[in-house]
Amino acid sequence: MATGGPAPAVAELARRRGFYFRASAVYEGGAGFYTYGPQGAALKANVEARWRERFTDQEGHLQVDAPTIMPEAAFAASGHLDGFDDAMVTCGACGSAHRADQLIEATTEIDGAEEMAPDAQAAAIADAGIDCPTCGASLAGEPVEPFNLMFPTPIGPGSQEPGYLRPETAQAIFVEFPRLKEYARGQLPFGVTQIGRAYRNEISPRRGIVRTREFTQAELELFIDPDDPGPEPTDWGDTTVQLWSAADQRAGRQPQQQTVAAAIAEGVLANRWIAYHIAAAAAWYAQIGVDPARLRFRQHRSGERAHYASDCWDAEAEVGDGWIEIAGFAARGQYDLQHHAAAADADFSMYVPLAEPRTETVVEVDVDMSTLGPRFGAAAPAVAAAVERACKADPGCAADATVTVTVDGEPVEVDTAAVSVTESEQTIAGRQVTPAVIEPSFGIDRTVYTLLVHAFDEDTLDGEPRSVLRLAPAVAPTEVGVFPVVSNAPALVERAEAIAAELRTAGLRVTYDAGGSIGRRYRRQDEVGTPLAVTVDAAATEDETVTVRARDTGAQVRVPADALVAVLRTMLEADGAIDAAAAAGHPVEPVG
Ligand code: GAP
Repeated sequence: MATGGPAPAVAELARRRGFYFRASAVYEGGAGFYTYGPQGAALKANVEARWRERFTDQEGHLQVDAPTIMPEAAFAASGHLDGFDDAMVTCGACGSAHRADQLIEATTEIDGAEEMAPDAQAAAIADAGIDCPTCGASLAGEPVEPFNLMFPTPIGPGSQEPGYLRPETAQAIFVEFPRLKEYARGQLPFGVTQIGRAYRNEISPRRGIVRTREFTQAELELFIDPDDPGPEPTDWGDTTVQLWSAADQRAGRQPQQQTVAAAIAEGVLANRWIAYHIAAAAAWYAQIGVDPARLRFRQHRSGERAHYASDCWDAEAEVGDGWIEIAGFAARGQYDLQHHAAAADADFSMYVPLAEPRTETVVEVDVDMSTLGPRFGAAAPAVAAAVERACKADPGCAADATVTVTVDGEPVEVDTAAVSVTESEQTIAGRQVTPAVIEPSFGIDRTVYTLLVHAFDEDTLDGEPRSVLRLAPAVAPTEVGVFPVVSNAPALVERAEAIAAELRTAGLRVTYDAGGSIGRRYRRQDEVGTPLAVTVDAAATEDETVTVRARDTGAQVRVPADALVAVLRTMLEADGAIDAAAAAGHPVEPVG
């Protein structure tokens, strides 16, 4: 396992070796936008592919790919237009804007500044004597104000229709729910996933790809019956995780290491659907190379939760200079679907059959409008509705000569000769419900950053210091480097090129490199995390063998060329372990 690198070393490696760099730098483009270079784009695509395999394919969920610009009405309904704010303090001297809670937490002992009211934040800034990080002027006396993080964009010419870049991929799923429930054939629970861009006009973008203004989310919206308590823990309950409950945070206690099943039994994980996805995420993170010792799940304290969430846990990774949130697991309840249903006047509900059909007494009330109309005029429908409600609640109402109801605050007496009440036994087989939502939401960029930090290592190999990325083969940009041992022997070069082509055809991610000494080529691939290197030397044209070298140890084996694909696959599946091939019975010989 890598020791993990300090943030500056990783950022420098990322820039130098083409993982990511600031976008539009030639024009000094706006802060908070990053371009993934060749290595980073491949790493990110592999992380997305592994996520899709685990959280879409293995779960049997549906997938969508929706537009990133959405109409204002969608965000008025979702609550983002009014409530998606961060607290901002603006420097009166230089005009630069800063996130108030971050300034307070970086400068004082206060934890949870995000939960403070704006006035309290302004007072804390004044009390702590916090100065503007840009120009050094005092921020005391400056107001703290909400700043909406959404990017507005007019849709079409003439700015007729206001729109916004989506601040989370989730809303693009919720607005399509009336169609999606049809594709799910009306069955709950069902999940819809989406990997795509989200945009937030962050007040203080920082730490490279950790807090940007355009980023990639991989979100799963799981639609459930609100009464569904979630699955009973089976083998997934055995997953051990570090959990930091809101109660432990408030009491100043450290996170607890426990199995998910134990946390459910103790009520630490009160929501079994969230528990299931925390277990799934912990296993997935380990598979792609997040160090389990540097991963924890932290519950939101009540003041921290988003406007839609009733319970929320973040996955947090330690990245050398502190912990960052890399994913969130929220119980969003019926909030989103109910709000879109009301605003769009569309049907966001589903019919849920009861496990056991039951018999109920159904009361039907019929009010004779030909009697009520002449007597009450325009108020007749309201009077009839009030009578209907009263008699449904008390089916015996018609036994009296009159029934008295309240309409617009006034008592109204209605002759029961105009009212007929019937009661009948009916079998109820199901009910119409608005589903609740469980949402695991992963930040892909922060996952990529965490993988780089956790994989980064510096060691000495063959007497030489080197930096190496110990990336898991499942996500490494390149799985196999192929090198002719020298570049001035045409037969050997031709053989090496042919081997690289064969490996690509077999579906492996291959880099061919004939430039510089073989030692330098090994170092180049070590630094970008390539787990295995195939070296083609004279033996390749004589006895048809090549050598395979492991990134992590430098150990080498000689392999018959016709067994190469199978040998490499075995090693890659064993996390790049070179001895896995001999253990699996492949014809390999140790070198040296
Ligand atoms: N739909 C729920 C939602 O968007 P969130 O906690 O705001 O929840 C989910 O975001 C994930 O998206 C975070 O855990 C983080 O990994 C990522 N994320 C959020 N804001 C980001 C930003 N400005 N830059 C990079 N990643 C970000």
